[in-house]
Amino acid sequence: MNEILSMLYLWLKSAHLIFVIFWMAGLFMMPRFFVYHQETAIGSEEDGKWIEREGKLRKIILNPSLIIVWVIGLALAYNIGAFSQGWFHAKLLMVLALSGYHGWMISYGKKLARGERRMSDKALRLANEVPGIAAAIIIILVIIKPF
Ligand code: HEM
Repeated sequence: MNEILSMLYLWLKSAHLIFVIFWMAGLFMMPRFFVYHQETAIGSEEDGKWIEREGKLRKIILNPSLIIVWVIGLALAYNIGAFSQGWFHAKLLMVLALSGYHGWMISYGKKLARGERRMSDKALRLANEVPGIAAAIIIILVIIKPF
């Protein structure tokens, strides 16, 4: 098992980064969709179209990418023995927070689909900064490995 993982390590790392990009792209797009969605009248044809677009982004990009990034990331960590390293603990904390943000976004999308619009456009635009900041910290942690 370890030998196979070592042989495939760079391929796995490439796949990890490809799906990180897909996941991040989805995380950046969704709150933008929400802002445009909230400009439509509840129950209108446009409202329905945004519900459909958000559903597709969730099912085709966001959820599969989250699962693949986690599975491959944990396999990489197992292979290099990262579970005992400080940088990895900090990264794990950050990716758990990012996964929480993902979960919050999915639940807000479901609320919008029910006609509940609880957040202002400004708050949604502010929330949009979360994945960018988290990605910057995560990348510094994995590349520099400061501790
Ligand atoms: C979701 C859970 C995740 C886990 C368990 C995980 C784990 C790992 C591990 C163990 C490595 C190998 C590090 C090495 O070879 O030195 C790695 C590489 C990497 N990860 Fe993740 N990762 C996750 C999510 C993310 C996310 C969300 C990002 C960016 C936003 C990210 C960015 C990177 C980068 C840039 C590398 C390449 C580092 C290098 O080759 O030096 N990862 N990841």
